[in-house]
Amino acid sequence: MIKLIGSKKIKTAVFISGTGSNLNSLIKFSKNKRSPISIDLVVSNSRKSKGLKYADQFKIKKKIFNFNNVRNAERKILIQLNKDKIKFICLAGFMKILSKDFIKNFKGKIINIHPSLLPKYKGLNTHQRAIKNKDKFAGCSVHYVTEKLDSGKIIIQKKVKITNSDNSNSLAKKVLRQEHKIYPQSIIKIFN
Ligand code: GRF
Repeated sequence: MIKLIGSKKIKTAVFISGTGSNLNSLIKFSKNKRSPISIDLVVSNSRKSKGLKYADQFKIKKKIFNFNNVRNAERKILIQLNKDKIKFICLAGFMKILSKDFIKNFKGKIINIHPSLLPKYKGLNTHQRAIKNKDKFAGCSVHYVTEKLDSGKIIIQKKVKITNSDNSNSLAKKVLRQEHKIYPQSIIKIFN
C-alpha cells in the first residue's frame, strides 16, 4: 500500500458524474491536517455534472472525458493522472464502469462508495430495491474497486434504519449523510 512520506499528502483524484456531495465532503476533509490525501484533480465523464462546481469553488483542476469511446477516454485519463502524479483514486458517484486494464494500473489504489450494505444490492436503484424487499436497514459501503462491479473488499460500512414513512428519496438523503462521514473515515483507516 502507499505510505505517507514525511508530511506530504497523497495526490488523489476524485471521479464524479453527478451532484458531487461526496466530492464536497472529501475536499473539506482533505483540507484537514489529519487527512492523508490532497485532492489535486476532479475527473468527470460529463460537462453537466453539478459537482464540477466544487472543483471551481476550491480551485482544483477539473477534466472532462467523453466516454463514447471507453478505451480512448481511459487512455486519456491515465495520461492526465500520470501528468498530475496522482497516486490514489476515489470514485464518488462515478457512473461509468472502469475496465480491467484501467484498474490494473491503479491496483489497490481505487476506492468507491456504494449506497447499499454490500454485498446486497450491487448496481443501481439500491434504495428502491431495499424498500421493495421490506428490508429493515439500508446503508452504504466504501470498498476497493476490482474488475468485478461493487465486489472489492469492504473498508467501512454503515447501517441506516428504514422507517415505514421512507421512500427512496428520503432514504437516499439519510444514507448520503452517512456516506459523507464514512468516506473520509475509510481514507483514514486505509492510510493508518
Ligand atoms: C451516492 O449515493 C453514491 O453512493 C452513489 O452515487 C451517489 C452520488 O452522490 N455511488 P453525490 O454525487 O456524491 O452527491
